[in-house]
Amino acid sequence: MNIQDIISKKRDKKELNKEEISYFIKNYTNGTITDYQAAALVMAIYINGMNKEEIKNLTLEMAYSGDVLDLSCLGKTVVDKHSTGGVGDKITIILAPIIAALGIPVAKMSGRGLGITGGTRDKLESIPGYKTEISDKEFIQNVKEIGISLIGQTANLAPADKKIYALRDSIACTESIPLIASSIMSKKIASGADKILIDVTYGSGAFMKTKKDAKRLANIITEIGNNVGKETVCILTNMNQPLGYAIGNILEIKEAVNCLKGNMPKDVKDVVLELGSYMIKLAGEGNNLEKNKQKIIEIINNGKAYNKFLELVEKQGGDISYIKDLNKFKNPKYIVPVISKKDFIIKSINAEKIGKLCVYLGAGRIKKGDEIDHSVGIVLNKKVGENVEKGEVLAYIYSNNEEKIEYCKKNVENIILNIE
Ligand code: URA
Repeated sequence: MNIQDIISKKRDKKELNKEEISYFIKNYTNGTITDYQAAALVMAIYINGMNKEEIKNLTLEMAYSGDVLDLSCLGKTVVDKHSTGGVGDKITIILAPIIAALGIPVAKMSGRGLGITGGTRDKLESIPGYKTEISDKEFIQNVKEIGISLIGQTANLAPADKKIYALRDSIACTESIPLIASSIMSKKIASGADKILIDVTYGSGAFMKTKKDAKRLANIITEIGNNVGKETVCILTNMNQPLGYAIGNILEIKEAVNCLKGNMPKDVKDVVLELGSYMIKLAGEGNNLEKNKQKIIEIINNGKAYNKFLELVEKQGGDISYIKDLNKFKNPKYIVPVISKKDFIIKSINAEKIGKLCVYLGAGRIKKGDEIDHSVGIVLNKKVGENVEKGEVLAYIYSNNEEKIEYCKKNVENIILNIE
């Protein structure tokens, strides 16, 4: 068997068998297959797709390409939550401490930003001192001690996904059902949770642009999870405009902390309550979704969710004085308002375009391994459906590069005015 034959088979729209998929994953993970050969195959998969059998085989090969964690020592049902990604998606940072504060263990590994979508790992790393890279042992120990740990993928957890994920980001192969399903589910299988909840986003700021495609992705994910004996639920959520107001790493941490203190934008609150109520149900802690939503509201209002976040940050080595005083976070050199030149009602805010501007500002990566600037991004001042009067601020641009500001200002204005 050789990689050229496998690439040409997929290039010619043929089905790859289990042995071929296994050969690719093993040899890419160990470095025998080069990045450029893997890029060719990944692009062929992106263009020609995969059937269900191929996706299942790809997922399992990736899941078992490294360690598979055993969380049974936690003695409770562990529910893992993952999102297919979005612009301004800071839900994990809000929801994980809420669930942990309710006494349900949260052992979660998150990814870096991918394409226009931000990554929870990058956001957490914007908290000074916060360690996202710890050993499996320490990860499990933290969950035992405080009920929660939020980290990046540990070194040998689904290493095949780690390589393919970074590669996809740099070769424009992010929006693909087989690649997303295998990436997410390989990590979920390897990270040892008993049950899985996936937020499948759709709309301009998501990888799935239509609800129909999101449903197809959700069906495949659910089938993979249930086939490996892990009850899996997918919830479809709208990502047509950015979630919340802030887009960018530090900016989203600040917004998430404010949400934990009870100041949640409506769209964020809807997603937190919807996903959270299912997590509680899957954990076996309450079948009534409305009552579960009430429990979430209570745990925020009594300050326990916020306190759990402080505990988490401290345990991971982060400096909690930044969380207690959000003004301590470093601002970029320039914070520039975008002012409306007319009165109007906002009809849409294209999340994909806003996401691209944030990547341009440095909040995301253009190529594999790029450093990101945690302080930059965009903060919206208005959301879809709101009235705007001439002279009002539409958004703020956070930048360290003066030359990028004019371009971003013009574009943000056009995006909010809905001008192509
Ligand atoms: N999240 C992942 O882990 N992988 C994807 O491909 C998309 C979102």
